[in-house]
Amino acid sequence: MSERVLIVDFGSQVTQLIARRVREAGVYCEIHPFNRVTVESIRAFDPKGVILSGGPASVTEAGSPRAPQGLFDMGLPILGICYGQQTMCEQLGGKVEPGHHREFGRARLRLKEQIYATGDCDLFAGIYEPGSEPEIDVWMSHGDRVTELPPGFRTIATSVGAPFAAIANDDRRLYGVQFHPEVVHTPGGKQLLSNFVHKIAGCAGDWTMKAFKAQEIAKVRAQVGKGRVICGLSGGVDSSVVAALLHEAIGDQLTCVFVDTGFMRTGESEQVVSVFRDRFNIKLVHKDASALFLSKLAGLTDPEKKRKIIGATFIDVFEEEARAVGGADFLAQGTLYPDVIESVSFTGGPSVTIKSHHNVGGLPERMNMKLVEPLRELFKDEVRVLGRELGLPDDMVGRHPFPGPGLAIRVPGQPLTQENLDILRKADAIYLDEIRKAGLYDQIWQAFAVLLPVRTVGVMGDSRSYDYACALRAVTSTDGMTADFFPFDMAFIGRVANRIINEVKGINRVTYDITSKPPGTIEWE
Ligand code: XMP
Repeated sequence: MSERVLIVDFGSQVTQLIARRVREAGVYCEIHPFNRVTVESIRAFDPKGVILSGGPASVTEAGSPRAPQGLFDMGLPILGICYGQQTMCEQLGGKVEPGHHREFGRARLRLKEQIYATGDCDLFAGIYEPGSEPEIDVWMSHGDRVTELPPGFRTIATSVGAPFAAIANDDRRLYGVQFHPEVVHTPGGKQLLSNFVHKIAGCAGDWTMKAFKAQEIAKVRAQVGKGRVICGLSGGVDSSVVAALLHEAIGDQLTCVFVDTGFMRTGESEQVVSVFRDRFNIKLVHKDASALFLSKLAGLTDPEKKRKIIGATFIDVFEEEARAVGGADFLAQGTLYPDVIESVSFTGGPSVTIKSHHNVGGLPERMNMKLVEPLRELFKDEVRVLGRELGLPDDMVGRHPFPGPGLAIRVPGQPLTQENLDILRKADAIYLDEIRKAGLYDQIWQAFAVLLPVRTVGVMGDSRSYDYACALRAVTSTDGMTADFFPFDMAFIGRVANRIINEVKGINRVTYDITSKPPGTIEWE
């Protein structure tokens, strides 16, 4: 088992980023919600160090979350961040008070003189030049603050709003910071977390994707034995990586089922078949169900109805194909770590459904199969690294996210037909081709064309045209939850529009969508 760090989650919006930074430092870590962490569970997890996350509660309120008191007597190195620092101080005999000087956003951290003069705090090693400017930029988000240190602690740094912005008990290897080292707005934060896991917790940093791959292959073999596994392929990154990994682990015991909805983009179905069947030699069932999907959606325009029908039809077709394969014991799924981290809820209320995302939830229960989920411990970009390690082509591994219902939700406001899907596919292919040629693909989270349900008048040559308008969308985002439009230069957009209007029969007008999310969503429906 690799060396590991435990992150105790107190519900901060950015706890996942702590895990990202720790893994980037080559150390395996997991996030566990505070209310599930006990001294016994910590002992069983056997971490080299513990990080206490931030959170929305106030240490000064009765009943607010705490770390298990026994954690502080286990001799483990601990780093408390924001709320984590406050609860550690309170639990060890210090004092926390509601802050009258709240700090949100960028703040200046002032290192104590003996720190910057002598560089004697491991947590800050490499973050500033000893003897140089004693102030560094950090990102803060707090109302409360520590006002009295517990015994044995010293102050490392202060800020205007936090007299104890960074603290240490070097003998017991306990550290606390009021700011957030995990966010990119704290430039030295990545180094600080790396210092904690390497210099303070003593981790070697040998967690690599190569090691993960070997470990997962061994796990899959142990789980599956001589059983047979079915894997649904969609052409997306996650299912492709699952398939390639399982193939390497269990070879012919794996059968992949690719349900082709007919809503894929140009060349995507062909690529799935050529990569998996021809190159990897994986047993692949390619079911062209495009006619069925189109007929089920005939005449429909309501986005939610379309999603529900596509989801249900997908499950029916997949089930039938899987049954035809016969006798599989396991279903493989591309579940990722963000899907399995238990979220800590302080309000308890369900969030509003904006769009019901199409997925194959419910399939395993219906099919009475056990699950194989080899990506459960990975973040999306770690999946990409693993995909490259497994020899998947770069354009497949680095692909933008693509929704399950595919192009079916990019023809809003009119019934789907083979004709309008084909028109959209051509425009979309030209747009993506130009984005790739301009070297912009990797700067964009998602880019696609939308075929609008309006016809507009144009003039082509000497005659009047009356054709579709199409909208182009490109957004930047880190997780799809919020997004901003991508600021192409006008010459680029003009070039794309020109090509689409000239090369795609049926489109005579192109617009660029400059809506952010919120208030818009990334897709148009
Ligand atoms: P929205 O449009 O909600 O999209 O801002 C956020 C992300 O989710 C994708 N998306 C979907 N993915 N099934 C999916 O698998 C869906 O029904 C669906 N709708 C939106 C969208 O492409 C973006 O990445």
